[in-house]
Amino acid sequence: MSTERKKVIAGNWKMNKLPNETMDFIDKLIPLVQNTENEVILCVPFTDLFYALLSVQDTNIKIGAQNMHYEENGAYTGEISPNMLKSIGVQYVIIGHSERRQYFNETDETVNKKVKAAFKNELIPIVCVGETLEQREQGKAEEVITTQTELALQGLTEEQVKNTIIAYEPIWAIGTGKTATSEDANNSIKAIRNKICQMYGQNVAQSVIIQYGGSVKSSNCTELFTMSDIDGGLVGGASLDIEEFSKIVNFKK
Ligand code: 13P
Repeated sequence: MSTERKKVIAGNWKMNKLPNETMDFIDKLIPLVQNTENEVILCVPFTDLFYALLSVQDTNIKIGAQNMHYEENGAYTGEISPNMLKSIGVQYVIIGHSERRQYFNETDETVNKKVKAAFKNELIPIVCVGETLEQREQGKAEEVITTQTELALQGLTEEQVKNTIIAYEPIWAIGTGKTATSEDANNSIKAIRNKICQMYGQNVAQSVIIQYGGSVKSSNCTELFTMSDIDGGLVGGASLDIEEFSKIVNFKK
């Protein structure tokens, strides 16, 4: 079944790169990834979005944001709304990254509100789930990630769930150089897919793109992305380097 799903490679730049660096990076990336059969997304800081969108015009690179508020407007100083993103041409938005859950009080409830707000504004959410090292060592990893998945998707239609991208990112593997073994990552992703199957049935579960994230590099991406249930990756550090990122994007089955 996995062969029917495309591979989606998304870069998450986190809080890195200025507008001029963004435009320079994208100009150089365009020719390197133009023939890939995989989908390419770059999730850049808010201040880079407009420049990134101008730079990727008429190319196969799509642009995403890394967060947003769930309200469309109002007295929320410092926040960016889903329709603001939509209005400039953003197509994707990362929701519930573990760094936002850890440092910025993102909860399963706000994640669910943001996912719904994203769909209302025709943005595709990239929903992050993942367990801490402590939870993993206590044997709770599967319970944590399936519960996060269930709460994030609550109240969505089948069509919306089919269009959701989920990123399984074990927190202990983010920025640490430690990757989950491809078998472990695949098993966790299967557990997420099973949960979606329980909620929405086999057809929906088999359509959802579920990525792996956590120290993905050009040297380990093939092993990870050729597993049955891993549909590409959400790439942090390695997405800041043109050569590394283009190699990951050009991964072949
Ligand atoms: P690294 O690839 O730097 O480990 O980051 C993963 C991540 O958090 C992507 O969202």
